[in-house]
Amino acid sequence: MGDDIEEMERMLNEYLEFARHQKNEETEKINLNEIIKDLVNKYKEDKIAVSLEENLEINVRPNSIKRCLSNLIDNGLSYGENIKIISNKTKNNISIFIDDDGPGIAENEYQNVMKPFYRIDKSRGQNKSGVGLGLSIANDIIRSHGGIIALDKSPLNGLRVKISLPL
Ligand SMILES: Nc1ncnc2c1ncn2[C@@H]1O[C@H](COP(=O)(O)OP(=O)(O)O)[C@@H](O)[C@H]1O
Ligand SMILES: [Mg+2]
Repeated sequence: MGDDIEEMERMLNEYLEFARHQKNEETEKINLNEIIKDLVNKYKEDKIAVSLEENLEINVRPNSIKRCLSNLIDNGLSYGENIKIISNKTKNNISIFIDDDGPGIAENEYQNVMKPFYRIDKSRGQNKSGVGLGLSIANDIIRSHGGIIALDKSPLNGLRVKISLPL
């Protein structure tokens, strides 16, 4: 009973924090590299490799994008040990890959893990505070920018999360 209540409290808090962030954030022209570098500096550097395109200027809601990326980095470091962040730019869009060396996700779970509160198995990342909202929030944020998130296998043998944002 106590555990259930604690779990519900964490779910609510995580959701409320998300709702608060989404509220009326202004769009700004920023270089995504700055957001990525800021985030990487907050984690143990030797666990995150980066390969970034020089100029990733784009109109976005910076705090939302930051939250999205930090959810994905958190996952990579919770379910895997090391991650690599790769960014690319084409004429019409910017793509960001977040690769990890964890167990990955079976293809038949790709759709499910995007759903709120869905977790593949609770023993994964047991000591982490996630409640199954990380990916669905990340997905929401990217879609609200007109982009898409897709999952794949990563060259590091774990999960690859592919973000694509229109320019
Ligand atoms: N990088 C990853 N590697 C392996 N499994 C993952 C990864 N990211 C997410 N998952 C799986 O997808 C589920 C949903 O992820 P998420 O929405 O972030 O929730 P949470 O991390 O809070 O459990 C996780 O519980 C986990 O089973
Ligand atoms: Mg998570």
